[in-house]
Amino acid sequence: MTSKKPIVAVTRKLPDIIETRMMELFEARLNLTDDPLGQAELEAAVQEADVLVPTVTDRIDTQLLSKAGEQLKLIASFGTGVDHIDFAAAKKRGIVVTNTPDVLTEDTADMTMALILAVPRRLAEGERLVRSGNWSGWSPTGMLGHRIWGKRLGIIGMGRIGTAVARRARGFGLSVHYHNRRRVPESLETELEATYWQSLDQMIAHMDIISVNCPHTPATFHLLNKRRIDLMKPHAYIVNTSRGEVIDESALVRALHEEKISGVGLDVFEHEPAINPKLLQLENVVLLPHMGSATIEGRVDMGEKVIINIRAFVDGHSPPDRVIDTMF
Ligand code: 8YV
Repeated sequence: MTSKKPIVAVTRKLPDIIETRMMELFEARLNLTDDPLGQAELEAAVQEADVLVPTVTDRIDTQLLSKAGEQLKLIASFGTGVDHIDFAAAKKRGIVVTNTPDVLTEDTADMTMALILAVPRRLAEGERLVRSGNWSGWSPTGMLGHRIWGKRLGIIGMGRIGTAVARRARGFGLSVHYHNRRRVPESLETELEATYWQSLDQMIAHMDIISVNCPHTPATFHLLNKRRIDLMKPHAYIVNTSRGEVIDESALVRALHEEKISGVGLDVFEHEPAINPKLLQLENVVLLPHMGSATIEGRVDMGEKVIINIRAFVDGHSPPDRVIDTMF
């Protein structure tokens, strides 16, 4: 790249402080409306920009990248998950991809814990009851849920977020179980008193609560399919703050309607922002609008990471959060 400021196309509205800094550092093309860019606008952006800053709401696929100008050399995504980007297609065109890990770990783990509490304790249902004006007062058998303390939590994906969930869960008296591509270091297992299950099927069949914390990759697409959901105990719950695609949503809805599981807490959906209407009919589900990392602090930190990645790249260094093949 030359010494002139790189053209950085940002697809969505970012926190003001981040946008201001981007304007100072780069030839930034901001989206002031926050409406997701249409295909034609995205194509125009990649034709002109040196750097594209997309989010989870943009599809950066082969078709789009085939329209990119030669100058596009970096996709600095705002977010940790990179399943919206065709990494292989980017690599083929010599485009580096970065993301924003770490800074949203604690916020997402908090939201996971919130769902772990909310679903068995019927928080959303209780809130709806009060707001409806139909609450007639305390009763010994009113709004009974299930105890958290002493139950078994099975974490699918013991990466940064899974580990942060496990640390929180210990404080709520949950015993930690996990399934992961690789077993975590013994020291971490000891700290968390965690039980490793090589077989996901077996873990699922023995847990009271399952938390999905793995990324969406070709290997994890529909990891929780009908067969696996059917292995769960009827009193068990699922929470998902990762990606909707990890669960076969139709199979999940069917299992809920057939009372094969007790409830779910979802912050993410298979066809976002579309929600399966059958989920909306159920009381024992807590549905959130993909807000796991939605804190002001987190979003500013994510923006900072994007800027650092762009700066490092433009200055000729390997950006700190470069996405590599082994992540898939
Ligand atoms: C982000 C997320 O807010 O980082 C991720 O992978 O799922 C979210 O928490 C979103 O991806 C921003 O692009």
